[in-house]
Formats: sequence, structure tokens, C-alpha cells
Amino acid sequence: MSTVITITNQKGGTGKTTTAAALLAGLSAKGHSVLGIDFDPQMNLTYAVEGKEGYSIYGILIKENQASDAIQHTKEHGDFIIGSQYLSSIGTVLTGPGSEFRLREQLAPVRDKYEYIIIDTPPALGILTVNALTASDKVVIPVQASMYDIQGIVQLGDTIAQVKQYTNRDIVVDGILVTRYNARLVLSRYLTKNLRDTIAPKLKTKIYHTTIRDAVGIREAAMEQRSMFAYAPDSPGVEDYRHFVDEFLSDK
Ligand SMILES: Nc1ncnc2c1ncn2[C@@H]1O[C@H](COP(=O)(O)OP(=O)(O)OP(=O)(O)O)[C@@H](O)[C@H]1O
Ligand SMILES: [Mg+2]
Repeated sequence: MSTVITITNQKGGTGKTTTAAALLAGLSAKGHSVLGIDFDPQMNLTYAVEGKEGYSIYGILIKENQASDAIQHTKEHGDFIIGSQYLSSIGTVLTGPGSEFRLREQLAPVRDKYEYIIIDTPPALGILTVNALTASDKVVIPVQASMYDIQGIVQLGDTIAQVKQYTNRDIVVDGILVTRYNARLVLSRYLTKNLRDTIAPKLKTKIYHTTIRDAVGIREAAMEQRSMFAYAPDSPGVEDYRHFVDEFLSDK
């Protein structure tokens, strides 16, 4: 049975898609079987892993297709189900009792095929994110060190608590990943300490030891549709993501 992981934070640009791509590339380079799912109408992850046109997660959510019909093989990021711009209107079709469970139900037939299923979510706390959380075993929350907002993370914690209460009793926040970290900035250090002392305990979770530095190689790899580990192996931020993948694997 696979471990399903949602990467989420309703704030934009905190490194969700980058972290999803790093886990997909890193785990698959280590020989693990992985499936990535782009749950964001912006389709940034679909671009980053060079997903091809075809059946998307939208058709799966509205039960027009099976998950197995939509699975593609990427070059460096394992298997993948592409996103769709139509996801932005999913709220109008995914209504009624049980709609939070749609992804979970639709993934059930392929769950056994993978060790890890990684879901990238949009910067919002709507029905898409709730569907992802309902289908997941673990949550990873990337937070941008220079600009995180406490209120936002507390709100995310409330949503996860509701999911735990109503739709997915077993969900666990695996950790908070500090991204775009700059050790020279007093602000980065201050925010990270604050996260560790006040936010992490509220969400019953930890801050990963690894923090991710800013690195041009990370941005370039995404634009070039390459695995960051293959494209810019010596970039400091990529080295950080390599450590993060190891840390993630080490504490199951
Ligand atoms: N450590 C890093 N160093 C340099 N650039 C980074 C780093 N992490 C992310 N970026 C870049 O910052 C931008 C935002 O990152 P990303 O797309 O991963 O955030 P996101 O949380 O998925 O955003 P959204 O909320 O819009 O989905 C991207 O252009 C990405 O390439
Ligand atoms: Mg994104």
C-alpha cells in the first residue's frame, strides 16, 4: 500500500510545486515507485515534469476516466497524472454528500502500484485541497522563511483538524519545510525559531532539520523541465532538497 502525501499551503509561492517535483525526482532516482498528481489549475507541476496532453485529474474527479487511463510515464519524475485548467471550476461539479472523498475513491484502484503518491495543491483551502487531504496519509507544509504568515498556517492547521475529525482520521502532518532560507537574514532565523516554538506544536508536527536555500538552479531546472538533481546537482538548494528527501525517508 502506498503512502499518499499532500504538499500544501494556501499561501502562494512557498515552494509547494518545487517540493513536489523534488520528492518525485528524488524518490524515483532512488528506485522508489512514485506517482505525482497535479491538483492545481495553474498546472506548474505538469509543466515542470513535462506532462503530455491527455486525460487529466479533472476527468478522474468527475468520473469520466479511471486513474489508470490517465497515468503517464515521465522521464525523470516517475509516473504522473496531469492537472487541468478546469480544476478551477471543480467546485461547481464536485458537490453533494461525499464529494470530499472523490479523489480517495478514484485513487483506490492504483494505490497498490506505488510506494509514494505525491499531490501538489493550489494556493487555496477549497474543495481541491480538502479532497487531497482526505486522500492522504501525510502532509508536508512548505513555508517561505522570509514571508510566512502565522495566521495563514494556523488556518491551515484548522482545516487539517477538520479533515481529521470528519473525513480522514489518520492524517498526520509529517512536517513543516522552511524554504527560500537565507541564514544571513535575521528575519529568516527569527521566523524559523517562531515556527519551531509556536506553530509546529499547534499542528502537532515538527520542522524538518533541513532548510532549503534559494538557488538559481532550482528555478532553472523547473523552466527546463528537468529533474533538479540531474540538471543542477551541485547547486546549494538542490543539495538541500537531496537532504530533505533523505530526511523524509528516514523517519517513516
Ligand atoms: N529554493 C528555491 N530557490 C530558487 N527558486 C525557488 C526555490 N523554491 C521555489 N523557487 C521558485 O519560486 C517560484 C515559486 O515556487 P513554487 O512554484 O514551488 O511555489 P508554489 O508554492 O508551488 O506556488 P503556488 O502557490 O503558485 O502554487 C518558482 O518560480 C520556483 O521555481
Ligand atoms: Mg504550485
